[in-house]
Amino acid sequence: MIHVSHISKIYKTGSVETVALKDISFDVAAGEFVAVMGPSGSGKSTLMHMIGALDVPTSGEYILDGENVENLTDDELADIRNRKIGFVFQAFNLLPRRSALQNVILPMIYGKVPHEERETRAVKYLQMVGLGDRLNHSSNQLSGGQMQRVAIARALVMNPSIILADEPTGNIASNQASEIMSIFQDLNKAGHTIVMITHEPDIAEHSKRIIHIKDGQIIQDSSNHRQKKARIEEK
Ligand SMILES: Nc1ncnc2c1ncn2[C@@H]1O[C@H](COP(=O)(O)OP(=O)(O)O)[C@@H](O)[C@H]1O
Ligand SMILES: [Mg+2]
Repeated sequence: MIHVSHISKIYKTGSVETVALKDISFDVAAGEFVAVMGPSGSGKSTLMHMIGALDVPTSGEYILDGENVENLTDDELADIRNRKIGFVFQAFNLLPRRSALQNVILPMIYGKVPHEERETRAVKYLQMVGLGDRLNHSSNQLSGGQMQRVAIARALVMNPSIILADEPTGNIASNQASEIMSIFQDLNKAGHTIVMITHEPDIAEHSKRIIHIKDGQIIQDSSNHRQKKARIEEK
């Protein structure tokens, strides 16, 4: 699904160069649920921008679902993003005065989904995240956890190959955070590939594999021990 090979990213600000990622390589197979963990400034968001085709690496190769994300124009990158990736951000990034329904319909307008299909599909995904009774609430009438559920419905509505989440529980209360994580686990059980960035160990525990990064480099990449242990105890 994801093939990242020897990726580096250097930001140039005036004469200052910041090496945000150094020679990162990993693969993610379809159906995985991967958490990327690391302290603040370690390069997590930069890596998400590369995986999400929001930016291109300085060097290295990135293949997303069979497509080489290299030497692409901004329009081509936007097209890949719309077709293949569902984004979930820490700050939700919803349109504030629009309803939950309108927010979920938006990617279908860009994606040229036939007009008559849009509302049915939006309702289906909002019901899936438990917001069937909040369709016409504007996003500023919703709690943080509810806003993030709208954002998850919005991320799913174009049927992306992969869901990419950057600190998805960073702005919400902890009881709502566990609801968000159980939605991600259900989506993964239904076959969705998920890459989630977090600096919180208890959030990373919901994944099946944890990639630790520090100073722009992978320092550990392992299947999630606690889940493995739980599976063994179930038997
Ligand atoms: N647009 C940018 N321009 C210059 N430097 C940046 C930019 N974005 C991030 N950085 C730097 O790259 C490093 C990694 O940042 P980031 O990927 O945001 O880390 P994290 O998400 O783990 O906190 C930091 O040193 C940060 O200051
Ligand atoms: Mg970040």
